[in-house]
Amino acid sequence: MTHTKIKELLSTTAVGTEVTVKGWVKTFRNNQFLAINDGSCLSNIQAVVDFENTDESILKRLTTGAAVEVHGTLVESLGKGQRVEVKAKDIIILGDSDPEKFPLQPKKHSLEFLREIAHLRFRTNTFNAVFKVRNCLAFAVHKFFNEKGFVYLHTPIITGSDAEGAGEMFKVTTLDFDNTPRTEDGQVDYSEDFFGKSTNLTVSGQLEGELAAMAFGDIYTFGPTFRAENSNTTRHLAEFWMIEPEMAFYELKDNMDLAEEFLKYLIKYALEHCPEEIEFLRTRLLDEEKSKPQKDRSELDLTQKLQFVLENDFERLTYTEAIDILKQSKPNQKKQFKYLIDSWGADLQSEHERYLVEKHFKKPVILTNYPADIKSFYMRLNEPDAEGRKTVAAMDILFPGIGEIVGGSQREERYDKLIQRMEEMHVPIEEMSWYLDTRRFGSAPHAGFGLGFERLVLFVTGMTNIRDVIPFPRTPKNAEF
Ligand code: 4AD
Ligand code: MG
Repeated sequence: MTHTKIKELLSTTAVGTEVTVKGWVKTFRNNQFLAINDGSCLSNIQAVVDFENTDESILKRLTTGAAVEVHGTLVESLGKGQRVEVKAKDIIILGDSDPEKFPLQPKKHSLEFLREIAHLRFRTNTFNAVFKVRNCLAFAVHKFFNEKGFVYLHTPIITGSDAEGAGEMFKVTTLDFDNTPRTEDGQVDYSEDFFGKSTNLTVSGQLEGELAAMAFGDIYTFGPTFRAENSNTTRHLAEFWMIEPEMAFYELKDNMDLAEEFLKYLIKYALEHCPEEIEFLRTRLLDEEKSKPQKDRSELDLTQKLQFVLENDFERLTYTEAIDILKQSKPNQKKQFKYLIDSWGADLQSEHERYLVEKHFKKPVILTNYPADIKSFYMRLNEPDAEGRKTVAAMDILFPGIGEIVGGSQREERYDKLIQRMEEMHVPIEEMSWYLDTRRFGSAPHAGFGLGFERLVLFVTGMTNIRDVIPFPRTPKNAEF
């Protein structure tokens, strides 16, 4: 090892030993106090520079952002704020950083500004904390499923099917736009395309996941998914990561139980393994909220909010029950909702979801049994209710401040019923014969769900814009870096 990580140095008691630190300069004060960060933790280490015996040319190059290598002795710190520091003997500049040009000055920058320099924002405390938490959660996802014996399945990124049937797909093609091959009737001739057919980026790995669940029993996917929906919101990305478990022999209730256990496991794991980062983000959020009027501030701070989710059962109710609550609700009566709820069958908008979670129940909610008409073709048809209305065994989990974080369902395992739904919803049956084979050969009840990874990271970090929890966000009109 040519150097020791700052995280290790700050927790060591080996005072008096010779050490080498490598990292980036955060600040340099009084020609003496050099704060260095190497990304291993949020804290910097202080190196005390013997300026009288250090070359003037080196001192001048100790600017914010420069990469340095410091050799010296680890000593107890006399200053407050740190236990140990490095008494520098030799300083090498590995990479200069022009202070006139380096955009990250040692001051608070807005998140909007940092988004424009996403290639450098990793070096800020906020993004160090956010992406450490993201990393920690990704690891916890694999740990959770591994402990339960689930098989991690890599589903294709390029696919010919539209899993959600929503048609919000990015095309994948090598055809020449200026000279597109056409069939006799003037359509684009995809037989000339790379795959010999029309293909797109996947919107979900679920359908392929179902195939594997019918062999392994329990599987999960964790990969990028793509949606060309033109939603410029703080909750939507065109490229996001999704975790999709799929379990044979699970019914809707088993599915909900697993999803609730999973979310609690992930939050608990982050609290236990990222205490420094979460504490930083908690304080950051409190600071940010100070500028808001009292009534708009959260009742709970970040840690309390996470604890609250761990300690309380999610509220489970049907879509029909939710509609009754919403109909009676004040914002509906006073016509404050943008979309008023007047009848059963209406799709819930994020304002309705947030009312249920944040105002009515004040905790996470699982909504079940949605109208068949507003959900995907693969969801299992329930017996018609007392009033003869058609619902499916769907479940959405709604979180405070986030809205929908999980979407899932029990799947339609009955061949005839599935075909009927596909016909009604104009899903191309011939192209999906591989999917239908699971229903032809040893079909079995099964269920699964999808967790939007960035929405989870949003919740756990207390950030408010989804663009700030993925390193390089892809949104309408933006694919920088
Ligand atoms: O509800 P969705 O569309 O469900 C599916 O894709 C199913 N195939 C899942 C399954 O049953 N296996 O998406 C699942 C979750 C949503 O609840 C949300 O958290 C997230 O994915 N999500 C998005 N996150 C960021 N940006 C977007 N544009 C998202 N669209 C969905
Ligand atoms: Mg959904």
